[in-house]
Amino acid sequence: MSHLDLPFLENALAPLTLSVFDSIPSTNEYLKKASLSPQLCVAEQQTAGRGRLGKTWFSPPGVNLYLSLLWPMKKTISQLEGLSLAIGLSVIHTLTNLGIKRDIKIKWPNDLYWQEKKLAGILIETNTELAEKNNVVVGLGLNVNMLAQDHAPPSLPWVSLKQILGHTLDRNCLLVSLIKQFIPDLQRFEEQGFSDFLAQWPRWDYLYHKKIKMEIANKSIRGIAQGVNEKGHLIIQTEANTLLTFSSGKVSLLKP
Ligand code: BTN
Repeated sequence: MSHLDLPFLENALAPLTLSVFDSIPSTNEYLKKASLSPQLCVAEQQTAGRGRLGKTWFSPPGVNLYLSLLWPMKKTISQLEGLSLAIGLSVIHTLTNLGIKRDIKIKWPNDLYWQEKKLAGILIETNTELAEKNNVVVGLGLNVNMLAQDHAPPSLPWVSLKQILGHTLDRNCLLVSLIKQFIPDLQRFEEQGFSDFLAQWPRWDYLYHKKIKMEIANKSIRGIAQGVNEKGHLIIQTEANTLLTFSSGKVSLLKP
């Protein structure tokens, strides 16, 4: 299995500053405290990889991509709400170029699924060190070459690109393609916001027209998912037939 190749990555992504770690607690945690932006951090393994809502991200060595990109972004926290959706679309764009054009979906707000199995997760956070400008940390965990026989599976069903495509992928080339897609999409998001990505969303919307439960602040709301609005908020048609929008929360599927 080939390793992450710092000289190759530096050359392909110049002038972006980047660090490659054999092992790190979390690439997001590292960049949340970094004092130079923009910057890319990637690791062969994470010992404390994190997901949304306090979940852990399974990060075995040498097989997948665990990456974080620290990027200056003149936006308030509330204006960043659609960013994980825009990055999800950016990942999908890269994966469709690999030939995965069907069965891939984004579950609002940050999960990529292939045939009901989790392929990738996105975690957007903010840097706490750089006070003068707003800087976001875009974290992506993508299952690339992981196989079930080599790894005790995490609790939920998962899939890797190798399982989908039937061959081992070069993680260095894939990383370069992802970052080359992220950078213009981050610039587009900064200039136009999520509304510029909205038209792409319905094609990849995992929840659309599904019966769901939204849990937020000790409340639980049931209804039918009706897509997202121009801010990237999830629209739910409730059982009382009113439309509600949510900027955050935990969504689970209900039996149809
Ligand atoms: C989720 O599914 O809730 C998001 C998972 C995000 C995982 C990535 S792996 C690289 C980066 N570092 C972390 O600790 N988390 C993100």
